[in-house]
Amino acid sequence: MSLLSLLVLHGPNLNLLGRREPGVYGLLTLDDINTALRSQAERLNAQLEIFQSNHEGTLVDRIQASLDLHQGILINPGAYTHTSVAIRDAISAVALPTVEVHLSNIHQRETFRHHSYIAPVAVGQICGFGADSYRLGLDALVTQLRRQPDKPV
Ligand code: DQA
Repeated sequence: MSLLSLLVLHGPNLNLLGRREPGVYGLLTLDDINTALRSQAERLNAQLEIFQSNHEGTLVDRIQASLDLHQGILINPGAYTHTSVAIRDAISAVALPTVEVHLSNIHQRETFRHHSYIAPVAVGQICGFGADSYRLGLDALVTQLRRQPDKPV
């Protein structure tokens, strides 16, 4: 089983996890989530580059930089999910398998959160499982990557 290299991106306000609306997003911090992701990745023989930004263009830069560096992307775009054509286009441009995750079930919340610009360019979306959405998302991404017949990894 070869080593996979993956980019994990966290969008705006996710740096405040643990303190931000704990009733919606839970009590775990972003560090807690990243630590769990790193040990899960080790078991899956994957290495992670993990990055959080509150800035749309910075997220676009990171997605572009993943070309020729990473084989897949796990992203929680935060509020940019519902607004960002630029992040969607960047994912489309690099054409790397991408899994979209959300802590909350965006479809149960305000109407403006029901639409995702990212979903049409993602392999799939996992939402509503709290921090477990990330665990499920990483598992799904690695499974998908190891399944691609033209690129056995
Ligand atoms: C979120 C859902 C978004 O609607 C919201 O803007 C976030 C977090 C989630 O993980 O549930 O910042 O992506």
